[in-house]
Amino acid sequence: MNADSNPDAAVGTAAALKPLLEAAGVTLQYKTREHLVTATYRVSFDVYPGDRFVLLGPSGCGKSTLLKAAGGYLAPVEGEMRLKGQRITRPGPDRMMVFQEFDQLLPWKTVLQNVVFALEASGRLSGAAAHERAMHYIDKVHLGKFADRHPHTLSGGMKQRVAIARGMAMEPDVLLMDEPFAALDALTRRQMQDELMQLWEDTHFTVLFVTHSIPEAVRIGNRILLLSPHPGQVKAELESDGTDPVDAASGRRLSDRIHGMLFSEAAGPEAQGEAAHA
Ligand SMILES: Nc1ncnc2c1ncn2[C@@H]1O[C@H](COP(=O)(O)OP(=O)(O)OP(=O)(O)O)[C@@H](O)[C@H]1O
Ligand SMILES: [Mg+2]
Repeated sequence: MNADSNPDAAVGTAAALKPLLEAAGVTLQYKTREHLVTATYRVSFDVYPGDRFVLLGPSGCGKSTLLKAAGGYLAPVEGEMRLKGQRITRPGPDRMMVFQEFDQLLPWKTVLQNVVFALEASGRLSGAAAHERAMHYIDKVHLGKFADRHPHTLSGGMKQRVAIARGMAMEPDVLLMDEPFAALDALTRRQMQDELMQLWEDTHFTVLFVTHSIPEAVRIGNRILLLSPHPGQVKAELESDGTDPVDAASGRRLSDRIHGMLFSEAAGPEAQGEAAHA
């Protein structure tokens, strides 16, 4: 894989040639008292600057676990995760996480205070500079009028916008998003997907986005990694331009091909062919 496979990267810049985030043969396990659960097995992928890189796979295939490893919350038992070439060993403000749950905000703080708190607690910014940065991103997610509200007075979609503003305000190297729209109603989900794409058009941030929705993956991702069921292994990597185009060779839409690959028992000939293209 190389930067040529990433149409959205700033073509020709040196930074675009190097992966920002790498998973290199990453096996992740959970050890409980009775069990050893292998969540992912030797998963590799490279995320380039400006990528909207989607991890797509069935429930339990280790998507959230991979995100935790990228966040530095879980160490691989084999392989490694690297950010800008450095092995990831701990969490840091260079990787901000946005979760699915609506309760990820501090309930006793206002919208503005939630974002400012993240900036100040991490040492990123303080005082007036933190306020200014926070308001900039709160405006970007169209919540300027709600800056002084507390989370319990907001809708689910608004809370998710605050969480996204908080993540973006930190200006991390990579924004890690774990099914951030999964708990929203279909209309709001669609609107939030559009808004995320608008934000991306604005700032070309790098995002590692987890979903188990094929339409969401096709809309959000410029690159999509398909993972097999438990333990998660890479099935294929595909490119997407958001339009769900019909493939000339197979006559099928991208989303239909993904569906076929995800639900085939083993990686069949088509999946292998896709993997070879990717
Ligand atoms: N804290 C934990 N302790 C033990 N096993 C865990 C733990 N968290 C996850 N697992 C197991 O690891 C595997 C991968 O879980 P993970 O949450 O990463 O899946 P996922 O792909 O995010 O699924 P979903 O789409 O349902 O969110 C599953 O078999 C799960 O049961
Ligand atoms: Mg998950």
